[in-house]
Amino acid sequence: MTRVLVLNGPNLGRLGSREPDVYGSTSHDDLVAACVAEGARLGLEVEVRQTDDEATLVGWLHEAADDTVPVVINPAAFTHYSYALRDACAQRTAPLVEVHLSNPHAREEFRHTSVVSAVASGTIAGFGVDSYLLALRAVAGLVA
Ligand code: DQA
Repeated sequence: MTRVLVLNGPNLGRLGSREPDVYGSTSHDDLVAACVAEGARLGLEVEVRQTDDEATLVGWLHEAADDTVPVVINPAAFTHYSYALRDACAQRTAPLVEVHLSNPHAREEFRHTSVVSAVASGTIAGFGVDSYLLALRAVAGLVA
C-alpha cells in the first residue's frame, strides 16, 4: 500500500473552533478520520500530522523526500512567506499536492501569494475538507 503523509501547518489543529465561518465546523480529528477513510478507499495508507512549528514541518518534508513518500500539505500561513518550507517542498521525490480549505485568492491580498505552489505537483483550494479528499485522489492517480 502506498503511504501518504498529510501535513497540516499552524493553527489547523484548532479546526472546528477556529473562524468556523471561514474554515467550517469540522474538527482536526474529523479531518484525520475523513482522510484516513478516503485513503483506504483509494488504497493509500494515510498518516495525518499537524504542527504549529516551521522546523518540524521542514523535518517531516525531509523525511518524506528521503523515503519517497507522497505528500498532501496545507502549509497554512507559511504558504505565504516561508521560503524554508518552499525549499523543503522543492526537494520532494514523490508527488506533493498543496491544499487549502478556503480559497486564498478570494481573501486578503497577502494570501494571494503562495511560495509553495511553484514546487508542488498541483494545488487544490476552496473546497473545505473536500480539498484534502480531492488531493488524495490526485495523489492516487499520480502514483498509479
Ligand atoms: C489556509 C489559508 C491560509 O491563508 C491561512 O493562513 C490558513 C489556512 C486554508 O486552508 O484555507 O491557516 O491554508
